[in-house]
Amino acid sequence: MDFATRIATWQQRHGRHDLPWQNTRDPYRIWLSEIMLQQTQVSTVIPYYERFLERFPDLAALAAADQEAVMPYWAGLGYYARARNLHRCAQDIVQHWGGSFPPDASSIATLPGIGRSTAAAIAAFAYGERSPIMDGNVKRVFARHFGVAGDPARRETEIRLWALADAQLADGAGHGIDMAAYTQGLMDLGATICTRGKPLCDRCPVRETCVARRDGRQAELPTPKARKVAPERRTGMLVLGHEGRILLEQRPSPGIWGGLWSLPEFDAGLDAAAACAALGASPGTVFELAAFSHTFTHFRLHVRPWYVAVAQARIEQERPWQWVDAEACARIALPAPVRKLVDGLFAAGLPEALMAPAAATGP
Ligand code: ADE
Repeated sequence: MDFATRIATWQQRHGRHDLPWQNTRDPYRIWLSEIMLQQTQVSTVIPYYERFLERFPDLAALAAADQEAVMPYWAGLGYYARARNLHRCAQDIVQHWGGSFPPDASSIATLPGIGRSTAAAIAAFAYGERSPIMDGNVKRVFARHFGVAGDPARRETEIRLWALADAQLADGAGHGIDMAAYTQGLMDLGATICTRGKPLCDRCPVRETCVARRDGRQAELPTPKARKVAPERRTGMLVLGHEGRILLEQRPSPGIWGGLWSLPEFDAGLDAAAACAALGASPGTVFELAAFSHTFTHFRLHVRPWYVAVAQARIEQERPWQWVDAEACARIALPAPVRKLVDGLFAAGLPEALMAPAAATGP
C-alpha cells in the first residue's frame, strides 16, 4: 500500500472523528476551524469555535458584522490578525464571489491571510480536492518519514517537503483515497503519534518505510531551528482609576493587539504620573502593580503596570477611549494578559477604593 493510502486507512480506523468541525462539508465552518487551529491547540479552540458559530452562523452573518463586533469572540485566542483577516475574507467573498466560498484550493489561497496549506486543507475537507497540505506538524511527519534534513522553515527545505507532498498524490499514488481522511490523518499522526518528543513509532501506519525510524534519527529530524534569542521590549502600562472605573483605549491596527481594547501604554523609561499627565489627567495616588511578561511570536514584552487614581474623568487622547466598570469591562475584547490584570484589580477592589479614607463620622 502506498504512503497516502496507509495514512487515509489508518485515519479512518484510528484517527479523530468527533471534533466539532468534522462531519460537515460546510466550507464556512471548516475555514473557521482551520484559521482558529493555525496557532492554537484543539482543546483551546473548541469553546471559541462554538461561541463564534452561535453568533456568526454563516458567512453572510460574519460579513454583515462590524469588525468591532467580531473581536470579542476572538479575545484570548491570540494572533488577532487572524480575526481581522477572517472578517476581511468574509467581505471579500461577498463582494467577489457572490457570497459563496471559492470552489478550489487555488482560489481559496487568494483570500487575505490564507496560505497554500490552509487553502488545501479547506478544499480537501469541504470538496474532497486532491491538494496536499504542509503545516508545522506535517512537516515533521514528512521530514522524518522521507529523511529530509534542514530547518523546515527554510525555503529550500520547504520546497523539498512540498515536492514530496505533491508526489504522494501524483501518478496514481493514493488513487481513490478519501482526501478528507488523508488530510486529517496527516494532522492526527503529527499530533498524536509522530510527536516532537518520544514519537510512538510502534503505532505508526508508515513505520515500515520511515527513514528516521530505520536510521534511529527521530530525535534529529526535523532539524531544529538555529535558535535566535527573542528580542525583548519593555513598556509601562497605566491603569487610570476614577470612581470605580478604569480607562481603556483601543489599540491601533495594524500592530500588536490591533483593534482590541487595552490599557494606555507609555515609554518604560518615563514615570507613570508624567504619562498620566500626558493624557490630560491630573495624577493622584500612584501605585506600582506587579510586573508581568508576555511572549509573542517574535519578541517578549515586559510590562510594568501602574495604578493612578485621577480626580476627573476628562481625557485628551486621539484614540478611542472609554471608562469602564467591572461589568462593562467583562463584555469587552481585551488581550489575555491585560484581562488577567484588570480582572484581578476589579476582584480585589480597585486600589482607589482600598485607599479611600474612611467615611467621616460626625464631629
Ligand atoms: N490543526 C489544523 N487543522 C486541524 C484539524 N482539522 N483538526 C485538528 N487539528 C488541526
